[in-house]
Amino acid sequence: MSATAPATSVPAPGTEASPTAAPTPADTAPTAAELLDFVRATAADADLVARLPLDPENRTWVQLEGPGGSEAWLIGWPPGTGTGWHDHGGSQGAFATAAGTLREDSLAVRLPTEGWRTLELEDGVDRYRALSDGDGRAFGRHHVHQVLNESGAEHAISVHAYYPPLPLMRRYSRTGALLRLEEVERPEDWQ
Ligand SMILES: [Fe+2]
Repeated sequence: MSATAPATSVPAPGTEASPTAAPTPADTAPTAAELLDFVRATAADADLVARLPLDPENRTWVQLEGPGGSEAWLIGWPPGTGTGWHDHGGSQGAFATAAGTLREDSLAVRLPTEGWRTLELEDGVDRYRALSDGDGRAFGRHHVHQVLNESGAEHAISVHAYYPPLPLMRRYSRTGALLRLEEVERPEDWQ
């Protein structure tokens, strides 16, 4: 992420810490379905969504407490903003749109994670979907995508969750079929 981050942190509903002893990670690892349930339910929480500060030019975000130790974010997308191509460092995840419409471009192919700088994509691997208010999707550990708000006038707002919490994100540029690894971001880069 490269936009202005508000300093506030808003716990998501129903995610308060349990008073009992912490289970082991294997007990609590959320499934893709649970991540998707969480982002959909949170996107439907109008009071929470309304607390996100919006900026006319830059993306804004607030960190949430995701289920089972997952990392979660509420993100605001001004018209014309997007992420660029990236992966999630081996984490699975889910996101849902709370307002407006987001476009997701993704690759229906598993890329080798290491040992390459440029890669020529084969024909037919591109996928596209539009996620309007209330729509969500889960994705696996090797998902590569970009998300953008194509609207010329309206903000979009979405909820995202990742498990394990993002260890890194690889950022790519793309020219036609050529994908190029540009940068590896670590959590300290977007806190
Ligand atoms: Fe992503």
